[in-house]
This record gives sequence, structure tokens and C-alpha cells, in this order.
Amino acid sequence: MSSQKTVTVTDNQTGKTLQLPLIEGTHGPAAIDISGLYKNTGYFTYDQGFVSTASCHSAITFIDGEKGQLLYRGYPIEQLAEKCSFMEVAWLLLNGELPTEQELLGFEDRLTDYSLINESLKNFISGFYHDAHPMAVLVGVVGSLSSFYPVDASSMTPADAEVAAMQLIAKMPVIAAASYKHSVGGPFIYPREWLSYTGNMLNMMFSTPARRYEIDPVAEKALDMIFILHADHEQNASTSTVRLAGSSGANPFACISAGIASLWGPAHGGANEAVLNMLEDISEVKNIPRFMARAKDRNDPFRLMGFGHRVYKNYDPRARLIRKMCHEVLEKLGDSSDPTFELALRLEEETQKDEYFIERKLYPNVDFYSGIIYRALGIPTNMFTVMFAIARTAGWAAQWKEMLADPNHRIGRPRQVYNGPARRDVPR
Ligand code: SDX
Repeated sequence: MSSQKTVTVTDNQTGKTLQLPLIEGTHGPAAIDISGLYKNTGYFTYDQGFVSTASCHSAITFIDGEKGQLLYRGYPIEQLAEKCSFMEVAWLLLNGELPTEQELLGFEDRLTDYSLINESLKNFISGFYHDAHPMAVLVGVVGSLSSFYPVDASSMTPADAEVAAMQLIAKMPVIAAASYKHSVGGPFIYPREWLSYTGNMLNMMFSTPARRYEIDPVAEKALDMIFILHADHEQNASTSTVRLAGSSGANPFACISAGIASLWGPAHGGANEAVLNMLEDISEVKNIPRFMARAKDRNDPFRLMGFGHRVYKNYDPRARLIRKMCHEVLEKLGDSSDPTFELALRLEEETQKDEYFIERKLYPNVDFYSGIIYRALGIPTNMFTVMFAIARTAGWAAQWKEMLADPNHRIGRPRQVYNGPARRDVPR
């Protein structure tokens, strides 16, 4: 008697039945293995938006949407945010365990070596208009990195993949800060080995050669925790984009550039910028009902940015931590009466009393409050999604490495249900 659990599928057209294997993981729903379905039945499956589809095995991140639980390599996000640094979490995502002190020092030292970018890239960045969206700069510059740091993804060893991952994690903040400096006509600031990852981020963005710049430890710690919360999130749209690009053997820089492009969308990482713009449009508490009515109107494409989630049908644990951080950061940075934050709190309060949002389990997600903190740190709205991309590079790199290391990985190539014209001849 085979111990393999199966599901029986019956074709009512032919009366034939098919046993499909069940794949079970550590946590979460089991998956029906349909890889043999087309060969055995001639049928495809259909799942627009991949609501019920597992695209891969992964040991990196687990989300329980019903419980509002998020684990990185088994550790709850709340504990990692409280007890670890972003560098420790990046190592954890890449290697599966938290680093020893020695491993962490070596990791940070190697990231310092990889943090400088080819000086020619400064010309590339200065070639953009000053008002270019920094996500456009990031997509372009990251996609060009293989022309400066050649990699052949088809013959990469695990050591090569590790180097590529570290180059990406190290260079992303430098490119991001350079794009910001270009947008304000300021001088390019180099990373410093004696600064932390987020300390460097703030220094490269806000210091100038003319004046001493003191990094505010509150800001440095807040950004570090925000980066932890954004580091990975299972097979979301941008991570799936990175995996799909990587499955064809594209080089890691091109794959991450594709992920950045996907993250930019307002339905995904672009929501954090859209939330601030939306709150500015709402501007006063008295306008909240009008915007909620628009969000509920099927004929209006407007949605409340920062609300809802494909997986979380409970409160996004990251949003809860960021909301708490808002109070602390605003208090410490002296903006405790930030009207935008007050408006955001009232908007959340009103939605959680409204049947439409309650019935659809629409809670604030990671993007709803993060912009409040970025703004308190002096980061401009059009850089919010760039911050998200910097943090998520650790997760994208870990997921890309995991895919590359899977001996069974193959090029991703979904099929379709064709509903175009039937075959016909050209009328000539
Ligand atoms: C991120 O996937 C991830 O893990 C992503 C992410 C990560 O870390 O990688 O968590 C980061 O992208 C967070 C999400 C950021 N996006 C936004 O905040 C944009 C606003 N949210 C929506 O666009 C929407 O909620 C999505 C895109 C997040 C989820 O879309 P789904 O899963 O396709 O849900 P849906 O569109 O089918 O919505 C179900 C119902 C619909 O109403 P009905 O057709 O049942 O009547 O809920 C409604 C939707 O109209 N709905 C909303 C809404 N979100 C869903 N109505 C008003 N405002 C909203 N924000």
C-alpha cells in the first residue's frame, strides 16, 4: 500500500479517473501535483492570478494569511524585527541560519568590497533627466550591471551565485542614493566601511562634502527594521518575476531588474508611494467617506492604496509593527503631531467599521504606514518604492539562488486558454 497521498480527479465527459499525488510541506496547504495532468488528460488547469497555484518548493519564507503570520526561515518576523539587524536577516535569507558573529563580520566586510560601483555608472545615472522617477533609474542601471560585472548564469557555481547576490545587496543602496543625488543636483557620496548598511543609506542620501552630517540613530534603527520587514515575502509578483526570468538562464542582474520593474506597480510595491499621494488627496478626515465610497464603487477603478492583500486575510503583521514604529519614530523625531499619520489612523479606523472592508477582510498592508516613516526620515515620496526594492533585494537574491540550486528547476512556461479567432485562411 503506497504511503503517497493522492487526490482523485474524475472526468465526467469520459468517466476516466486520475490519481494525482499530494505534495505536503512543513506548514501550509498541501498541493496537488498537476505536472502530469496535460499528458494524462489533455487538459490544462486555469488559475488567473495564481490564486490557488504553488509555483515552486521554497524553504525561505512562510506566510499564514488566515493567522497573519510571517516566518523567515522559520523565525517569526516580530522576533527578527526586535532582535536582529537587517544584515543578520539578509544572511539568514541567503544561507538558512542566523550568522555567527564571525560570519556576520565577514559578510559585512565583503559587502563593503562590493559596494563601490563602476565610475562609468555615474555618467549613466547623470544621463537621466533630473525628474526621472528613481525606479526608472534603478531598473535601467541594475539591468546594465552585467555589462560592468560579466556573469554567465548558465555556468554559475554556488560561489558565483553568492557573489552575485552580495554584489546586488551591496550596490542597490549606492545606486539608489546616486539617483536621489542626481535628482536634487547634489554631489555623489561614496559608501563608508565604518557605517552600517542603513547608516550608509542615510549618509549617501543626505550628507554633503561641505558639512558634517550626523546620522540620527533613531532614523538608522527605524530604516533597519523597515528593511527587515520588507526583505522577503514568499512568491509575490516581483519575486515570481525574478524566478521566471532566472528560469530562462538570464543573468542575476537582469533578473533583479525585472523584479524591480514588477515591484513598481501600484498594486504591489508602488503602493507605498500611492498611499502618501492618496492621503494627500484625502487631506482631511471629513473627506474619508467620499474616498471610501469610491473604493467600494465597482464602477470606479479607485482602490484604497495600502489596503487588502492576496494572502493576508488578517492584519498584515508587518503593518502592525510599522504602525507601532510610526508612533515611536514620530515621537523621537519630534513630529508626533504628523497630520498625515493621524489621517491614516482615522482611515484605518473607519474601514474597520465598514461592512465592505470587514466582509472582504481588507486590512492595512505593509505599504499603508511605511511612507509615514520614510517621510519622517526626510525620504521623498518617489523614493519610497526604491526603499522597498533595496530591502527586497535580499529576498529576491535568496529566492533566485534557491531556484538556481534546485536540480529540478526548468524554464517556466505557462500555457493559456485560447479564445481568439478559429483557424482561417488569408482572403487573397
Ligand atoms: C504588496 O503579494 C505580496 O506578498 C505583496 C507584498 C510583498 O511584500 O511582496 O505584500 C507587497 O504588494 C502589498 C499590496 C500593496 N498593494 C496595495 O495596497 C494596492 C491596493 N490593494 C489592492 O489592489 C488589492 O488588495 C491587492 C492587489 C493587494 C490584492 O488583490 P487581489 O488579491 O487580486 O484581491 P481582489 O482584487 O480580488 O479583491 C477582492 C475584493 C474585490 O471586491 P469584490 O470583487 O469581491 O467585490 O476586495 C476588493 C476588490 O475590489 N478590494 C478592494 C481593495 N483590495 C481589494 N477594494 C477597495 N480597496 C482595496 N484596496
